Amino acid sequence: MVKVFVPRESAAGERRVALAPDSVKSLCATGAELLVQAGAGEQAGFLDVAYESAGGKIVADAAAGYDQAGIVLRVQAPEDGSDGVTALRDGVTLISSLQPLVRLELVQALAKKKVTCFALDLVPRISRAQKMDILSSQATAGGYMAVLLAATALPRFFPMLMTAAGTITPARVLVMGAGVAGLQAIATAKRLGAKVEATDIRPEVKEQVESIGGVFVDTGQLAGGEGGYAAEAKEDFLRKQQEILAEHVAAADVVITTALVPGRKAPVLVKADMVQRMKPGSVIVDMAAGQGGNCELSKADERIVVHGVTIIGESNLPALLASDASVMFGRNTTAFLKPMLKEGKLETDWEDEVNVGAAVLKNGEIVNEKVREALAASGGA
Ligand code: NAI
Repeated sequence: MVKVFVPRESAAGERRVALAPDSVKSLCATGAELLVQAGAGEQAGFLDVAYESAGGKIVADAAAGYDQAGIVLRVQAPEDGSDGVTALRDGVTLISSLQPLVRLELVQALAKKKVTCFALDLVPRISRAQKMDILSSQATAGGYMAVLLAATALPRFFPMLMTAAGTITPARVLVMGAGVAGLQAIATAKRLGAKVEATDIRPEVKEQVESIGGVFVDTGQLAGGEGGYAAEAKEDFLRKQQEILAEHVAAADVVITTALVPGRKAPVLVKADMVQRMKPGSVIVDMAAGQGGNCELSKADERIVVHGVTIIGESNLPALLASDASVMFGRNTTAFLKPMLKEGKLETDWEDEVNVGAAVLKNGEIVNEKVREALAASGGA
């Protein structure tokens, strides 16, 4: 009987857990044995007793779980070469978010352990795998939280109010990048009563923005990105974008930036002089701060005030919505793992394009072409 272990996350500020109790129940139904580290779900609002009621077994510490586990489920990959990787038994299967192309040292450390590793962030974005898509579920949580952080930092109401003390005009929110996170940010800001504008460079986005009540700001379209993603904008395109956006940024009370291009540094859409023209008290939430930032001035994981404008660079927004973000993450993980569990045993279908797409290591061998190329380019393989 394969043992599936859910450790307590070790990264600073990480409040999520890889499985919520509802997913434990669903995986136990396959015949697998579920081990959960004591306190693993505490910061997401799930007590040990809830895991036990769902059929899980609580283990006192990480070592006790790692010693028995055939499969380890995590939200964030273990740190490079630290306790997390050292604790993994040789030959174990790790299922986690990983970002292997920027964590090459970690991939090498895992390879030495003969680990089989699936990166949930590499699950192909095909319709059949939508229920396994952690990028979408966590971006939904992130986009929602970005607006709530902005709303609490802004010294103004979001909605229009007509009161005995006069009329309050609605806040103006500008969302840059209208993918999964951006669309959720638009919808959340609209629900709070703000006037919302949004921009993106993928041609199909205008209609999506308008369908949820946003006003689309056209800064030019760039077709040609891979797999439904954006193409990388060149310098002169970005400069034109910045020129068009400058007026809209100056008029906004809140700017939420979510623009990303996979595998590249985030495009700079808000330059320092654009921040200077914003009204004091305005707020920028830069959801790309961890990937270099859409705003020239933002700092990852810091909240700074420049020219009276608050710039929030929180890089783990889903962790602030730990309970629902964990429920969604756990359901995605379960949808990925369940087809591999047959009568309590792990039987991976290596012909399945979803498994192949997500696989980084198979018994310590690097099976992802892009990761292999990146390692070769870095002189590491
Ligand atoms: P993402 O997180 O990589 O990027 C966020 C947004 O930034 C994208 O909408 C992108 O077009 C935009 N962006 C990039 N450069 C920009 C620039 N210079 N200026 C303005 N905006 C810029 O993307 P995300 O949200 O992960 O997904 C994007 C798209 O992928 C979705 O809208 C959808 O078309 C596709 N997708 C498909 C799924 C499926 O079929 N299962 C699931 C999720 C997404």
